[in-house]
Amino acid sequence: HKVSFYGREFRIDSHTLIPRPETEILVEKIQEILHIHHYTSIAEIGVGCGVIAITLALQNPQIHIYATDINPYAIALARENAIKFGVEKQITFFHTSLLQGLEHICLDMIVANPPYIANSYTLPLSVRYEPKEALFGGEVGSEILESIITLGRDLRICFVCCEMGYDQKAKIQDFVREIPHKSLEFYKDLSGFDRGFVLQFL
Ligand SMILES: C[S@@+](CC[C@H](N)C(=O)[O-])C[C@H]1O[C@@H](n2cnc3c(N)ncnc32)[C@H](O)[C@@H]1O
Repeated sequence: HKVSFYGREFRIDSHTLIPRPETEILVEKIQEILHIHHYTSIAEIGVGCGVIAITLALQNPQIHIYATDINPYAIALARENAIKFGVEKQITFFHTSLLQGLEHICLDMIVANPPYIANSYTLPLSVRYEPKEALFGGEVGSEILESIITLGRDLRICFVCCEMGYDQKAKIQDFVREIPHKSLEFYKDLSGFDRGFVLQFL
């Protein structure tokens, strides 16, 4: 199977999430930051089939991406896609949770489109066959997003950019309120729903 992302054809399979068009907006937000700050060291948590990491690598030859996923099939597929697009030297893959084992790497930015749906949510038929660990983020749904923000703080990262659920803006605002930061901006998807955030630390 194939899916188009940012005008490029990526291989997908039944073990990984089918990339969604709204995730292209996350890539644009990250790209805006890279135009200003010229960062070189980026981590992606939950790389899936690799659309975000590979698109960023292609658009920014100076960056290196440390990409993680708990799903070994996703890692294998993302690596295959990276080779297809000739960016395998720009991306290092880690089969791990969050950034476990990567704490020694000096990172400028963490990006993620993590699972963010509450465990109790009944999925529509159209997504019922996609892997559960790609979709469900915990009892409340925002647990993995909050872990990523906490990691950004603990590792003294400059920016954390994430996709999120349309109803998670208030949750994220409340969570970030307790954490010293420079700015928190939310963005909407093409349907006008809140869909993600860019958090800049001090
Ligand atoms: C919503 S999918 C996103 C895939 C791809 N980045 C995209 O945007 O299409 C979330 C991915 O996160 C992975 N994942 C779930 N929990 C994780 C964790 N604790 N650490 C790393 N990856 C995780 C899943 O296996 C899945 O590939």
